[in-house]
Amino acid sequence: MKEKLEAAKAVLEKHGQEQLLANYEKLSENDKDKLLDDILTIDFNQLEKLYEKRNFKQVYSEAEIEPISYVEKDKMSKEEREKYDEIGTKAIKAGKLAAVTMAGGQGTRLGHNGPKGTFDIGLESHKPIFELLCETLKLANEKYGVVIPWYIMTSKENNKDTVDFFEKNNYFGYPKGYIQFFKQGELPMVGEDGKVLLDEKGMIKQAADGHGGIFTSMRKDGVIYDMKARGIEWVFIGGVDNVLVKMVDPTLIGLAESKGILAAGKSVVKAGPHEKVGVFCKRNGRPSVIEYSEISKEMAEETDENGQLKYGESHILCNLFNIKEIEKISEKNLPYHSAHKKATYMNEKGEIVKGTEPNAYKFEAFLFDAFESLDDMVIMRVKREEEFAPVKNAEGVDSPETARKLYQDFWKTK
Ligand code: UD1
Repeated sequence: MKEKLEAAKAVLEKHGQEQLLANYEKLSENDKDKLLDDILTIDFNQLEKLYEKRNFKQVYSEAEIEPISYVEKDKMSKEEREKYDEIGTKAIKAGKLAAVTMAGGQGTRLGHNGPKGTFDIGLESHKPIFELLCETLKLANEKYGVVIPWYIMTSKENNKDTVDFFEKNNYFGYPKGYIQFFKQGELPMVGEDGKVLLDEKGMIKQAADGHGGIFTSMRKDGVIYDMKARGIEWVFIGGVDNVLVKMVDPTLIGLAESKGILAAGKSVVKAGPHEKVGVFCKRNGRPSVIEYSEISKEMAEETDENGQLKYGESHILCNLFNIKEIEKISEKNLPYHSAHKKATYMNEKGEIVKGTEPNAYKFEAFLFDAFESLDDMVIMRVKREEEFAPVKNAEGVDSPETARKLYQDFWKTK
């Protein structure tokens, strides 16, 4: 351990991060060892670069951005719809579809203490989100006579709680061999001064590094391998926080397959210029999403000749990828975006500092940054009331209350 400590000290000195050992002596032997291991594996060069660019704001110029074309599910002709459904149904029945739920987020805005999927939105049944999602897969399994493999992405922080929750609930009756968990990556959080923070226990303060790492995690954790072994060709990837997420959609698969395009995304019409959703667009001729935190006011409010929002196709985190694309993307590193967050941490004196204002930086990669490496992507506009009931905030818009109402109206339940 002495050698390890010396090695860690040398690394910290080189990068001006000596504060990480200020509370070292107070740790248990196990934690000391873990802290040193973490220090020796952190890529401080990468963190320095990310910190330097923390205030970088992506500016999208009108010259590179244009609206994306889409197909409206509701306006397809009967023939088209039947054709797509037939192709998609055939793929699903042949066991070629897998579902992935991204559940690695922290859900801080919701204020729920635990993985978001364990949250009860207040239905009479009190079924947690994971169970609501699971039920839609069970219905599809019955309809198509298959068992769709379900992969759930967790983070180091919530993996154990998530797996325990499934165990405790007997996997909600889903065949256990068809549910697999895998973990996304994380990155240390950095304070205002560029110093890596310690958490309340005096260990490195890590945070989930966004869902953009999903593809590499799928490769590293053997998910792609497992999918290929099962003969999967299409992979639906969605977020955990939409209780109307439609993971099994033959029309979407059929549409992509018949056009020979290896990725597809669902959109809904943006509720207003400032709704907190990303919007699909084309950037330099390639599919892309401009996130709500990065779109300019002008672009968000711009309307077309019909008075509709020019960038009005909301990205609802419901995307479908051919396994070949996933393999390709999994070899690439996506860029990180920085987020200024309130953090609670241990300072050099061993005191706990609670941020009441944003006081730290978190770095996240976004799944949709992968879209720009795709040659093309089909966008299918669906109805909000059928497929989008987000649970983001404790109250008000996109809250358990609004999601519950949408869920009840759709399923005609209480
Ligand atoms: C997200 C989308 C936004 C979209 C909106 C629709 C991002 C960055 N933006 O916004 O374009 O319009 O949903 O509801 O996703 N997650 C992880 N790991 C992470 C971070 C998030 O698995 O490290 C998962 C969450 O558990 C959740 C989903 O990703 O299921 C969305 O994450 P969140 O960060 O809440 O995104 P939003 O800001 O709501």
